Amino acid sequence: AIDPQFNENREKVDEHEGHAVWGPVDEPEELGIHGTHVAVDFDLCIADGACLEDCPVDVFEWVDTPGHPESEKKADPANEAQCIDCMLCVDVCPVDAIDVDAG
Ligand code: SF4
Ligand code: F3S
Ligand code: ZN
Repeated sequence: AIDPQFNENREKVDEHEGHAVWGPVDEPEELGIHGTHVAVDFDLCIADGACLEDCPVDVFEWVDTPGHPESEKKADPANEAQCIDCMLCVDVCPVDAIDVDAG
């Protein structure tokens, strides 16, 4: 599961579409965590898609990640500022790749 303390245990190494990327990153095999309020561990995401289907405010968008060992696309928290903290995505992700900091 995603480390809920990722922002203390990891370094912010990049930005992507206006949100943070938390390392380590070693493309294409290691992609880190995207987002801060809504954080997705790209190295855990298996492209299940439940988060995209269920988020009521369309926070997530697919990004292609060819060459990653778990999946060739990831749910990117492209619109994390729109999150209403419903926690649905956290509940439905089968690999616990998402952390939402509602506090
Ligand atoms: Fe969307 Fe709710 Fe997840 Fe926020 S907590 S990203 S609103 S599903
Ligand atoms: Fe990935 Fe979990 Fe969404 S596997 S696509 S973050 S439901
Ligand atoms: Zn991203």
